[in-house]
Amino acid sequence: MSATGLFVTGTGTEVGKTVVAAAVARAAVAAGRRVAVFKPAVSGLDDYARSGEEPDHEVLRRAAGSAQAADEVAPYRYGPPVSPHLGAELTGEEIDPAALRDAAARAADGADLLVCEGVGGFLVPLTLGYLVRDLARDLGYPLVIAAAPGLGTINHTLLTIEAGRAVGLEVAAVVLTPWPAEPSDVERSNREAIERLGDARVEVLPELDLTRPESWPAVFKNGV
Ligand SMILES: Nc1ncnc2c1ncn2[C@@H]1O[C@H](COP(=O)(O)OP(=O)(O)OP(=O)(O)O)[C@@H](O)[C@H]1O
Ligand SMILES: [Mg+2]
Repeated sequence: MSATGLFVTGTGTEVGKTVVAAAVARAAVAAGRRVAVFKPAVSGLDDYARSGEEPDHEVLRRAAGSAQAADEVAPYRYGPPVSPHLGAELTGEEIDPAALRDAAARAADGADLLVCEGVGGFLVPLTLGYLVRDLARDLGYPLVIAAAPGLGTINHTLLTIEAGRAVGLEVAAVVLTPWPAEPSDVERSNREAIERLGDARVEVLPELDLTRPESWPAVFKNGV
């Protein structure tokens, strides 16, 4: 039987999608579920190699305790830190939407939950005719939207919520990350405003030590 799934998107690049997806995966593993992970494309591998940091597909795979190969988690992987459609173009190929859908289905096979992470924000192109949004719509999984807690987040988050609902997707939760130990008035107010204006569930994720999933507090115990 195929897994249920979640699609973790965000208000942009570097907003905490991987951290949120990893925390969700970890929580599901702790609850006894078999978790697989999927990320349609990863770029910037050259920078990861230089810095020694783990690329997204590896962080996700480790958090999920999954034995998937890199190709199975992220079928398209590029060196330069560019949009996936450009990463593909620079290597003389084009991302194949059907291959992505098949790869996601294969990843889901045999798992209880498939946690997908998008690339950049919701309207980032995988090709110039197929956006992250289109893949999310085709997979049909509820969205989890990673967003920063501070100034500017209301607008970005509401735009992302609207874009998801416009293609018929459910918004399971918005996750504000990293949520400070002592949130400011602005951060608290942002949380309330997104809840009210977005008519969405808003969760918060504290600062985690990403290198040690086993140290993470029991986040998302009740699922997202
Ligand atoms: N809860 C958190 N705990 C620790 N670090 C966090 C947290 N949330 C966000 N960060 C930090 O924010 C930065 C971006 O996070 P992350 O890599 O998850 O973003 P992303 O949206 O997946 O980026 P990309 O678009 O490159 O995939 C990282 O340096 C990460 O360590
Ligand atoms: Mg990421």
